[in-house]
Amino acid sequence: MSDLFDVDEGQTPLTDEERRGLKPAFIAFRHELNAAEQENIFVASVALRKQVQRLSAMDLTNEAFICDAHKAMYADVWRWAGSYRTTDRNIGVEAHDIRVQMRLFTDDARFWITEGVFPPDELAVRFHHRLVAIHPFPNGNGRLSRMMGDLVVERLGRRKFTWGANSLTEPGATRSAYIQALQAADRHDMTALLQFARS
Ligand SMILES: Nc1ncnc2c1ncn2[C@@H]1O[C@H](COP(=O)(O)OP(=O)(O)O)[C@@H](O)[C@H]1O
Ligand SMILES: [Mg+2]
Repeated sequence: MSDLFDVDEGQTPLTDEERRGLKPAFIAFRHELNAAEQENIFVASVALRKQVQRLSAMDLTNEAFICDAHKAMYADVWRWAGSYRTTDRNIGVEAHDIRVQMRLFTDDARFWITEGVFPPDELAVRFHHRLVAIHPFPNGNGRLSRMMGDLVVERLGRRKFTWGANSLTEPGATRSAYIQALQAADRHDMTALLQFARS
């Protein structure tokens, strides 16, 4: 049919069931899917920033807020926006473990904030890394987790991250550096990811 479901390096394939979750009937090519997602995410980023002005950093650690943010970013495109995946991936925890790991992650994040464990950049980068490592949603985890990292760091009074200043949805040097930095963070070394987020 088309290149719609081609999988780039570092991207996760969708199951048949998730493919059936595509909403707009006109989408036949990946560039149309990308454009529809980008438009949805742009509108959501404006709405989320407005919403966050009325919230505390603690509110951003609510599981419901994270699911609502995913929904806001993708609901025009995917029926499963805002709902956790039910099938396993080569990245992320097993599907049955998502709820437990999200609870542990959000509890930790709350503790980091109340106890001032990390400076703002490190707190937000760790927030990003933990969320994308769980990989709770069928797709869109990278963009959601970068959005959440940005919202958290902004709420803590800093400018949003630049995340390498190049497209991370296309394969290339920037994406490779990002994936390597995430893998170092998996090994508990946050240095590269902290540097990457501000590069
Ligand atoms: N090898 C890897 N190790 C750790 N994280 C990875 C790896 N490959 C990809 N990721 C993370 O997963 C994201 C891709 O997951 P996906 O759900 O497809 O999100 P999106 O659709 O927003 O790109 C990447 O942006 C990155 O954050
Ligand atoms: Mg993807």
